[in-house]
Amino acid sequence: MASYGPASASGPVPGTPRRRGALFRSAGVRFALVYAVVFGISAFVLAVALWYSTLGLLQHQVQNAINNDSQTLLEHEELGGLPSLEEAIRDRLVNESEPNGIYLLVSATGQILAGNLDHWPAGLTHDDVWYELPVTRQGIASVALLKVQPVPGGMKLLVGRDVRARLELRNVLRAGLIWALSLMIALGIMGALLIRSLFRRTIKDISATTSAIARGDISRRVPVSGVGDEFDELAITINEMLDRIARLMDGVRQVSNAIAHDLRTPVTRARSRLEDAALHASTKDEMQAAIDRATLDLDGIVSVFEALLRISEIEVGSRRAAFAPIDLSPVLTDMDELYRAVAEEKQIVLHTEIETPLPVWADRDLIQQAVVNLLDNSLKFSESLTVINFSAMVVDGMVQIVVADRGPGIAEKDRSRATERFFRGEAARSTAGSGLGLALVLAVAQLHNGTLHLQDNHPGLRAIISIPTYKS
Ligand SMILES: Nc1ncnc2c1ncn2[C@@H]1O[C@H](COP(=O)(O)OP(=O)(O)O)[C@@H](O)[C@H]1O
Ligand SMILES: [Mg+2]
Repeated sequence: MASYGPASASGPVPGTPRRRGALFRSAGVRFALVYAVVFGISAFVLAVALWYSTLGLLQHQVQNAINNDSQTLLEHEELGGLPSLEEAIRDRLVNESEPNGIYLLVSATGQILAGNLDHWPAGLTHDDVWYELPVTRQGIASVALLKVQPVPGGMKLLVGRDVRARLELRNVLRAGLIWALSLMIALGIMGALLIRSLFRRTIKDISATTSAIARGDISRRVPVSGVGDEFDELAITINEMLDRIARLMDGVRQVSNAIAHDLRTPVTRARSRLEDAALHASTKDEMQAAIDRATLDLDGIVSVFEALLRISEIEVGSRRAAFAPIDLSPVLTDMDELYRAVAEEKQIVLHTEIETPLPVWADRDLIQQAVVNLLDNSLKFSESLTVINFSAMVVDGMVQIVVADRGPGIAEKDRSRATERFFRGEAARSTAGSGLGLALVLAVAQLHNGTLHLQDNHPGLRAIISIPTYKS
């Protein structure tokens, strides 16, 4: 089978080898990267929040404690003067009420008056500012959070807390977070790779199928995983589309085969008649007769083409312009009269029941043609001395036109195909016709928003055209 569609359309044809180095052009990689970045950012935000909510809180608590402590000490000075202040500091150191407490009171000349530091820490220059400095407390190096308050008389009071324990906590937390972050990055990369491969695998199925179809294998379908996710939905939609395309292509193929097949015989016959006449006709009359017969053959072909075109025209709905509100009763009664005569010739009884009125919104000529086709078929396939029932009535808001005969009928398996173009059943082999009649009836019914049903009449065929009634 040839390939369909322009293979050189813009964009790479599915199935052509992927260009190397086009990593970032891959949608899978892009999705994976976006995923990794979003994942990384959330992990980072989480770590920062954790860091500040623990260490920040601790820091705040220590600062509060130092502020309160300084406040109390300064109140001692206010009430009892310098001796009271020195007493309070010494009290704190002796009682160890604050084991991490750091105190130092110096005079205006820098002389140590009380406290547990050997000397004024270097770098501690401003009052009322937080410092975090290394200190040596009773010979042990440590780190302290410190603040200096001026005391009347040019003295300075240093109050602080040893924060070595907090620093250790900080180190532990930092190490933990670094670990957690690296783990998260690793997990993020793995997740991204997973997404990419999932993405690739699903897309690969689709692109493998579509490229196989582009190469001409219309029977291929996208595998459906059965999970019911978005990719399954896409696969199902694509498959439905492919089914429809396959059906349409099948129809086109059948119709073109049928045209070729059905028309070859009369064309060949006409040709050989003319050739024969050209070689052997001895009189003008013989020649004329040959030409007439060939013309008849060609007329038959022309009428087949006309019928085909008419069906297509009806199918695309371009005939709606001729629609009007009409009563079908008189139309069908006229046809009854016409066919009664034809039936009598074949010794067939036409049993007619037509209700009045039968209001519809319709194209009179098309309805007439459709009913003519049904009556023609019934007459064609009926034996003499049988009855054909021809009726029309309103049932459930639909006008039903029924033509039922007692002929051979259409086998169950053929009934759905009987309305295809060029379909002719076994019983029709010996009769005239081209298999376009029922196709036209169906097209007309559908154009009127109606249906055509073919049923078993036990025996015979019962064809029912239903179209909606028209309410003005
Ligand atoms: N009334 C009928 N009784 C039996 N078979 C029928 C009847 N009408 C249609 N068919 C079957 O359906 C086929 C298609 O009908 P139609 O489209 O009218 O084509 P045609 O009449 O040219 O054969 C016929 O060839 C015949 O096999
Ligand atoms: Mg017919």
